[in-house]
Amino acid sequence: MRNTEDRENEAGATRFSVSMEPDLLERFDALLGRSGSNRSKAIRDLVRLQLARHELESGRSPAVGVLAFVYDHGQPDLARRLMEVQHEHHTEVVSSSHVHLDRHDCIEVLILRGTADRLQQLADQLLALKGVRQGQLTLTPATCPLAHRHHH
Ligand code: NI
Repeated sequence: MRNTEDRENEAGATRFSVSMEPDLLERFDALLGRSGSNRSKAIRDLVRLQLARHELESGRSPAVGVLAFVYDHGQPDLARRLMEVQHEHHTEVVSSSHVHLDRHDCIEVLILRGTADRLQQLADQLLALKGVRQGQLTLTPATCPLAHRHHH
């Protein structure tokens, strides 16, 4: 059964045929069977993902980011330096959450907004501080790569 979103996306869409090796198609269908998706939607999602990745690689494109990292608040001077770097980038740090994990460790999660290259620089700067570990930055384009083709 297809949902409303699929029907809306397909309205006015161009149909084209795709050639694929039988064993690859079989594995693709098995994957779709588990997720309840269909071939057209899955291919659209893959194309959008590739376009989004390409946009982020260009660096200057607007992006939103989530940066999470764990650190030991007992590390001398670390809490002050983390705060200082975030204040230097106050236009890019939209929000921050801090959770005390145990007697020593804290996790901090930052929501970031800015150009992809600036957000990557900020993440690199924070994650390079001594005592920060398990850092992870996830970037997403702030604008939909197909925005001129449809409306939200
Ligand atoms: Ni804490």
